[in-house]
Amino acid sequence: MQHAVFSGGARIRPQLCLAVSMACGDNAPELTDAAGVALELMHCASLVHDDMPAFDDADVRRGRPTVHKAFGEPLALLTGDALIVMAYQVLTNACTAYPHRLAPLFQNMSRGVGLPGGIVAGQAWECETSADLALYQRAKTGALFVAATCAGALACGSDPEPWAALGANLGEAYQVADDIRDVILSTSSLGKPSGQDELHHRPSVASDLGLNGAIHHFQRLINQAAESVPACTCKDMLQQLVRLEAERLIPAASYEACLRQSPKPSLVAHS
Ligand code: IPE
Ligand code: IPE
Ligand code: MG
Ligand code: MG
Repeated sequence: MQHAVFSGGARIRPQLCLAVSMACGDNAPELTDAAGVALELMHCASLVHDDMPAFDDADVRRGRPTVHKAFGEPLALLTGDALIVMAYQVLTNACTAYPHRLAPLFQNMSRGVGLPGGIVAGQAWECETSADLALYQRAKTGALFVAATCAGALACGSDPEPWAALGANLGEAYQVADDIRDVILSTSSLGKPSGQDELHHRPSVASDLGLNGAIHHFQRLINQAAESVPACTCKDMLQQLVRLEAERLIPAASYEACLRQSPKPSLVAHS
């Protein structure tokens, strides 16, 4: 579990949760922290399982051997399971002072991970012979981003609804970026195997729209994400978070060069 969690991920989901909570007044900081931690534990669990031979059969994650490569498949399976359970434990422990916030936070996280529209559903689409790309990506990645923005509001006892669009737009942009990066970055700069979508015949925005189309789509989604930040005292900070994340994933200076080159441009991005 240590290997899966303390391996240098970008922690974007907890960052989103914390930023939205600040915008909602952050009146229960320990609960906000727990909600962010729980989301990251869920995310790490999904990566451990996603890397296993039954799914993507990946040897490297965050620049290190995947959990099943380091410890074997039985322990990797159990690591993912234990991280999922720990996510609920962390939330439960933090909710003792705010019992009315527990059920909404549980439901929110479960929607992001389970059926019919969470990570499990997204991963299950890969067992079908064809899938609707948007639906597949929304479930696989977008749903946990929606859970992250909504958790920030729910941890404060606020209405999550105004925050769902930010999570949905950023989550979609994030998966589009992941598809682009899978094509144009190397395994060493990604810290995980590149070229996986083509290798496993996975639906991908880069293969559907081509690289140029995918980059334009990414820019559109980032603009939409920035525009979907609701009016609040932290609007500038949240919009800046969106822009910084876009720059980290697909730096503007290099994608302009990338769009001029073809057919196989190389892009320098931060991992
Ligand atoms: C990887 O997520 C899986 C996707 C949903 C694209 P991240 O890109 O957030 O991975 P880490 O946490 O930074 O390693
Ligand atoms: C990951 O999807 C989303 C999860 C639910 C784990 P991918 O298989 O496309 O992500 P990476 O490229 O391995 O991180
Ligand atoms: Mg996968
Ligand atoms: Mg994978």
